[in-house]
Amino acid sequence: MKMAPWILGLFWLINTGLETPHSFVDGLESTWTHDYTKYHPMEEIYRWMKDVEQKNPNLVSSVVYGLTYEKRNITLLKLGLQKQEGREKKVIWMDCGIHAREWIAPAFCQWFIKEIVHSYKNNKKLEQMLQNLDIYVTPVINVDGYIFSWANDSTRLWRKSRSPPPPGSSCYGVDLNRNFNANWGTVGVSFDSCANNYCGKTPGSEPEAKAVMGFVGQMVNKTLCYLTIHSAGQLILLPYGHPEISAPNYNELVSVGEAAAKEMKKVHGMNYTVGTSPQILYPNSGSSRDWARLIGIPFSYTFELRDKGEFSHLLPEEQIQPTCEEAYAGAVSIITYVHDKTFNSGGLPNAAITNVTVWSTIVAVSLSTVVAT
Ligand SMILES: *[C@@H]1O[C@H](CO)[C@@H](O)[C@H](O)[C@H]1NC(C)=O
Ligand SMILES: *[C@@H]1O[C@H](CO)[C@@H](O)[C@H](O)[C@H]1NC(C)=O
Ligand SMILES: *[C@@H]1O[C@H](CO)[C@@H](O)[C@H](O)[C@H]1NC(C)=O
Ligand SMILES: *[C@@H]1O[C@H](CO)[C@@H](O)[C@H](O)[C@H]1NC(C)=O
Ligand SMILES: *[C@@H]1O[C@H](CO)[C@@H](O)[C@H](O)[C@H]1NC(C)=O
Ligand SMILES: [Zn+2]
Repeated sequence: MKMAPWILGLFWLINTGLETPHSFVDGLESTWTHDYTKYHPMEEIYRWMKDVEQKNPNLVSSVVYGLTYEKRNITLLKLGLQKQEGREKKVIWMDCGIHAREWIAPAFCQWFIKEIVHSYKNNKKLEQMLQNLDIYVTPVINVDGYIFSWANDSTRLWRKSRSPPPPGSSCYGVDLNRNFNANWGTVGVSFDSCANNYCGKTPGSEPEAKAVMGFVGQMVNKTLCYLTIHSAGQLILLPYGHPEISAPNYNELVSVGEAAAKEMKKVHGMNYTVGTSPQILYPNSGSSRDWARLIGIPFSYTFELRDKGEFSHLLPEEQIQPTCEEAYAGAVSIITYVHDKTFNSGGLPNAAITNVTVWSTIVAVSLSTVVAT
């Protein structure tokens, strides 16, 4: 039987149409087609995570390690290659989107995963690090809040979770980055549920914070580094938020942070300032960064990404790419340092626990004078 040319043409079209997604280098199609220069609503991020996992089984797996107040999955992607003989893998933690309105943060977690997926096969150093490390990346912790911030213009600047008001109040949500078990409720917080920095009823009262503390807590002894991504202000914050205490490896935290800021500046000339929160932003307590250091994770940082106030949490999409490029350089700088320190020379700084026993001053910070980050 002879087929009309248009039928052959149709077959060709159907075939190539079906095959195009599979004709890229194995496993890269979903990370290639996702638009990393746009902000994405939650359902697209969930779909993208599923794709990345399915298409890169050697490198990526996912873990659902908790549910939000509204019962949505809190999901991370774990990036890691098969370990080398006789070595225990160590852990790097990264999370984004604990504050709902800081949309550049989830955009960066997506960018970070994309960069690693695309480059590890041609980057010996990265490949080696992925044989020694598992990098756990949560693109959005505060899923309920993130979805709420996408609902319409009047909710765009929502920061907190979406847990319901305590008795006698009508205000929703807790500042999850004040709810961790780290000198909880002492400085830079409010007990007014209507405030943007409301710290919740008790340390870990919120399911999102509890999920992180539970999951990271059970792998604390192999976790080298905790990176939590926020905006804005162009800062690299290190422990502690409480002005009266200092991390035992403070000097090293500063020098590793400074090295990261230097790498970030090389990319687009942007200035990132390094210091503790009381030094360069405001005192606070109950943050995930402080909690991570207190339980013994030696390196813990908060990145406050662009900008310095012009657009703040409404950072235009044109700035997603340059912001993510510089932040990637900073994150890789820190991860490389902690990797090399552990695997090339051995020995970690004392994971000493610091406790607060005396507070001579309780510093109250008014959020009306400083934009909360
Ligand atoms: C949430 O995660 C569970 C696995 O823990 C999975 O079975 C379920 O499909 C996920 N729900 C959604 C809406 O993706
Ligand atoms: C915006 O979305 C929120 C959450 O869905 C809703 O409660 C509110 O009524 C909406 N506001 C407007 C102006 O549409
Ligand atoms: C971590 O190590 C310490 C000291 O060896 C031990 O007491 C603790 O139980 C370990 N924690 C976990 C979660 O494995
Ligand atoms: C960068 O930040 C530092 C510290 O805040 C400041 O002293 C310096 O002038 C800034 N440089 C530029 C180019 O903005
Ligand atoms: C911190 O101090 C509190 C109150 O004094 C005490 O109960 C707790 O055991 C201390 N924690 C550590 C790790 O030293
Ligand atoms: Zn924030």
